[in-house]
Amino acid sequence: MDKNNQFGYHAWLQPRVIESLPGFTLSGLEGFAYDECKKGIARLTGGKPGNTNIELSISDTLTHEAYTITGSFDGISIAGGGESGLLYGVYGLLARLSQGQTQFDVTEKPATSRRILNHWDNIDGSVERGYSGKSLFFKDGQIAYDPERLHDYARLLASIGINQICINNVNVYFQSAQLITQKLPDVARIADIFRPFGIKLIISVHFESPALLGGLETSDPLDEDVANWWKQATAEVYKHIPDLAGFLIKADSEFRAGPMSLGRTQAEGANVIAKALKPFGGMAYWRCFVYNCMQDWRDTVTDRPKAAYNYFKPLDGDFDDNVMLQIKHGPSDFQVREPNSPLLGAMDNTRQGMELQVTQEYTGQQKDLYALAVQWEEIFEHPVTSTSKTRDLVGNKIEAVVAVANTGSDANWTGHLLAQANLYAFGKMAWDPTLTAAQVTKEWVALTFGTNPQLFDPMVDMILSSRAVYEKYNAPLGIGWMVNINHHYGPSVDGYEYMKWGTYHRADTKAIGVDRTSAGTGLTAQYHPYVRDMYEDKKTCPEEIMLYFHRLPYNYRLKSGQTLIQYIYDTHFEGVDDVKGFIQTWESIKEHMPIDAYTPVRQRLDAQLKNAEEWRDVVNSYFYRKTGIADEKGRKIY
Ligand code: GCU
Repeated sequence: MDKNNQFGYHAWLQPRVIESLPGFTLSGLEGFAYDECKKGIARLTGGKPGNTNIELSISDTLTHEAYTITGSFDGISIAGGGESGLLYGVYGLLARLSQGQTQFDVTEKPATSRRILNHWDNIDGSVERGYSGKSLFFKDGQIAYDPERLHDYARLLASIGINQICINNVNVYFQSAQLITQKLPDVARIADIFRPFGIKLIISVHFESPALLGGLETSDPLDEDVANWWKQATAEVYKHIPDLAGFLIKADSEFRAGPMSLGRTQAEGANVIAKALKPFGGMAYWRCFVYNCMQDWRDTVTDRPKAAYNYFKPLDGDFDDNVMLQIKHGPSDFQVREPNSPLLGAMDNTRQGMELQVTQEYTGQQKDLYALAVQWEEIFEHPVTSTSKTRDLVGNKIEAVVAVANTGSDANWTGHLLAQANLYAFGKMAWDPTLTAAQVTKEWVALTFGTNPQLFDPMVDMILSSRAVYEKYNAPLGIGWMVNINHHYGPSVDGYEYMKWGTYHRADTKAIGVDRTSAGTGLTAQYHPYVRDMYEDKKTCPEEIMLYFHRLPYNYRLKSGQTLIQYIYDTHFEGVDDVKGFIQTWESIKEHMPIDAYTPVRQRLDAQLKNAEEWRDVVNSYFYRKTGIADEKGRKIY
């Protein structure tokens, strides 16, 4: 089958003729947005003739990416502040028409001007933490792509407001380091594909490029030759790609070289690259995933979640104005449940971006269903102070929302068809963090599968419940990590327990968890007093994250009256039952969807059930053997 005809290829831009729509004509500003509008209308009306006019224009009163849509089937106007705004307006209208809207009085503008996807693609074509095939950009050491597919990809991304993408892995190995010296014409051609869609490229660069590519003896950021190397190399890059958004750098992180290994600060490291980018308007996106990955597990003083704040907060104000710190949303690493990073919103004089992960590294690897939107809603809802929440991006000086991409060469882009909902949700929530998971999930189901209530309601409920279900059979109450090492799928309770990565649950026969309060490692002190106090006290610490901050005995009583151990048993039995429920739901809506949507998802649900059963058995047996406490309900635990 032609992959473009397989259900899922068109994702939320699914061709579906909507009989109730009138025929349309177009007028106004011709150009890319106009052409996109024409194609989109044809997709929804089948080219039906008619005279409902859609007028496209640019309005000086709007900001560049903002748009308005006004009118009804008597006539519709789309105005954008600039070309990007107009294009977003077109996609905004098409999405609303697909969902049956007939009257328009819409004004939209993004909450942040940087909505970014990071691809972790390697030049050999593999994708780090990729669960949907191979790279969309690289193959066998070369830049290699299907231009038509990349064009369609750019449209999908633009239609949800994404405006920057990094094409290569933050872990930069030699060949991909060479992107900025050897492969610029090819990178420029990729930029050409994305440009009309308002999407700019970012390139991940190697911190030691001056030595590695330039043959210098050092990459010390304070060395003049090093600074000059960055300037010249960057100038060359901008000759080929004048609108490059910038460079992304992972330094002093998980065996990647960085300024600290040369006795310099993170700011000194970032600034030398930023200065080279500055004349071209480029940004140095500097990741804050810096921690000691060689910890002795017997060391109970060092606490990995404290690391980013400890390294970066004292440098507030030292970074150049075109450095943007890219901070993972939680202090650990994309776990199912974490508090927000205390660094987010904590720096008044440093530009910040928040990094999410759409690819489901710890969240089911696109085999298990997992609605990230639900988690992101909580992340945005997380308090920064007593009066502000993370979703107030501007107030917290968060200028970018970034996510690690979940897309690849699979025909449906994301491996699990329903994982498309995560990509969709990312774009929409980065544009407007006040949107709820329910809103974006409903939109996605409507656009992809239609609004037949027999399918719509059960599918929306199933997706929205999926994060809670996964969490039930995973590690309990925010403790995280109980995964198989390296690949991070499936249970291994002690997998990371005696390793160097700083990821410990410290379960013994009496208790589990790490005390991160003032009586323990003191992570709580990194938060604003309001948030600190909330986490510090077991009475106010949200229960679902209790084991992140508190060490609890197994007979600790939760608010429900259940003991902790009984909670662990119950949730793990329930999680499996819930996945069985997903399978029943999927069967019950089978007749309302194409078979090539039904079958692959059914297969993944079967795999998910096996995974959930394995988690249940491994986790319950682990704690039963550790504690000797039987299940109150008498279920068999081995
Ligand atoms: C995680 C992930 C790595 C990745 C790293 C990062 O540790 O497992 O694959 O390189 O995060 O964000 O840099």
